[in-house]
Amino acid sequence: MARHPFVVIEGLDGTGKTTLRKALFRLWEGLYGITPLCLLTTNFLDATVAADIVTGKYSPSSDNRDRYMAAVAADKVATLDNLIRPALPDRPVISDRWMLSELAFFGVKHDLSPAETYQQLAGTVTQPADLTFVLDLAPEESIRRAGTRRGDATRADWDVLDVQARVRQIYTEVLAIPRAYPLLGDIVLLDGAANPAETLHLAWRALIDRGLVPALPASKDISA
Ligand SMILES: Nc1ncnc2c1ncn2[C@@H]1O[C@H](COP(=O)(O)OP(=O)(O)O)[C@@H](O)[C@H]1O
Ligand SMILES: [Mg+2]
Repeated sequence: MARHPFVVIEGLDGTGKTTLRKALFRLWEGLYGITPLCLLTTNFLDATVAADIVTGKYSPSSDNRDRYMAAVAADKVATLDNLIRPALPDRPVISDRWMLSELAFFGVKHDLSPAETYQQLAGTVTQPADLTFVLDLAPEESIRRAGTRRGDATRADWDVLDVQARVRQIYTEVLAIPRAYPLLGDIVLLDGAANPAETLHLAWRALIDRGLVPALPASKDISA
């Protein structure tokens, strides 16, 4: 293949994104000797918008909404230019959250529809993911799981049942009309309640089915 895939993993806190990302990372390393590049939805690569990102994320208000939207878009463009595009000729890129999470944030905090947020971001961010995995799980269970992680901060204004239920609702709205959101690439829903091995199997299958992983060399005949 001319380049490797840009894969995104989305899902509520505690649904298993990090678990799946680490498993895909190890599979790529083990099978192909290729180390994926892993990144987050915000990477602070554009210093001119870093303060707007912090303010807009942690103290969202109608006054800083538009600056935050512009900052999120600028950070994504910088991430695409400086990390993602340079990496793809040599290695896959796995992002822990990307576009779908932004649609949910602006929906919950600013009452913008996913279509409105998408339209604004898509004016600046133009490169689609190849595939977006969405880990789906009831928020009661994802919050419980998120709380069991060691040293991982949860936020009182975000990691609570009504907010997480609303986020899941926005994911569902987007998944109902995937063709309206081409920057997400193919969207593959995964059952977050399945065990991690099954989830990895289904995720890898989805990558194979779309030609996003290289064919393995035929296994050697070990009896020879
Ligand atoms: N499929 C699963 N079934 C049960 N527990 C899981 C599963 N996937 C992850 N976990 C556990 O749930 C917690 C949150 O998982 P994590 O991968 O950190 O989620 P996220 O990155 O989406 O917040 C961790 O303690 C992890 O070990
Ligand atoms: Mg995580």
